[in-house]
Amino acid sequence: MRHLFDDDEQAAARLAEIRRIACGGEAVYQLGADVPVVDVTSGYARWSQTYDNPGNPLIHLEQPVVWSILDALAPGAALDAACGTGRHARRLAELGHRVIGVDASPAMLEARAALPQATFRDGDLSALPLEPASVDLVVCALALEHVADLGRAIAELSRVLRPGGHMVLSGLHPAAAALGGAAYFQDAAGGAGVVEGYGHLHGDYLNAFQQSQLAIQQCLEPRIGPAEAAMQGLATQFIPDATAAAYIGLPGALIWELVRG
Ligand SMILES: C[S@@+](CC[C@H](N)C(=O)[O-])C[C@H]1O[C@@H](n2cnc3c(N)ncnc32)[C@H](O)[C@@H]1O
Repeated sequence: MRHLFDDDEQAAARLAEIRRIACGGEAVYQLGADVPVVDVTSGYARWSQTYDNPGNPLIHLEQPVVWSILDALAPGAALDAACGTGRHARRLAELGHRVIGVDASPAMLEARAALPQATFRDGDLSALPLEPASVDLVVCALALEHVADLGRAIAELSRVLRPGGHMVLSGLHPAAAALGGAAYFQDAAGGAGVVEGYGHLHGDYLNAFQQSQLAIQQCLEPRIGPAEAAMQGLATQFIPDATAAAYIGLPGALIWELVRG
């Protein structure tokens, strides 16, 4: 109903659809899917086998924006913090960086494709296994929403970055999170779940940056387009027009480029 006031025809179509589904007995949403919220460890243990499958709308939106930032940076020592299966680590290695990947999920680290020119370690965002000021670039993608204490994680990312070094952070946009967006996954056994998350707002980030000597270079908020709206699983399958009306134009990702003071 986002278009209730700006497009009468669209609003009428959506209302007719709601009436049909809710009152007409149509079995569109009587699917009986159980989607529990699960903790980070068990969630990524299950998601690890399917994480690299194509069709993740947030990755589709986020990746070209993050890579356009990375492409412009000089190679050096780069940390991919909460690297998961190594999506950005691989890109950093291709760009000539000496890459260290750190993640708290052994299953995600095991599921990554071979990347001999990088080093990978178990480790938590709250206590990274790196020396202070030891890297030129920090990337932390799609992970900070799983951390309750945002300030502590950003302080830790900042601690390992040398003065003048760049940091690139990405996550689900707070507007999308506020509307129910979450780290939804389907596992290899056909089950589904949502990894628990915290909807950090812009102000939470700004406070954390200020406390960690991080200056903002760019704040990018790419909007969901038709391609990402077509990746919304069952919603796309059963009610494609309503799904497009609900998603297209909403900010989907929040991406920061920062410099350590
Ligand atoms: C959505 S995946 C993102 C993986 C990768 N950065 C990417 O963008 O494809 C989130 C990752 O964050 C990791 N993670 C979550 N909380 C963490 C923490 N406190 N410390 C380290 N890793 C964490 C998970 O294990 C998972 O691999």
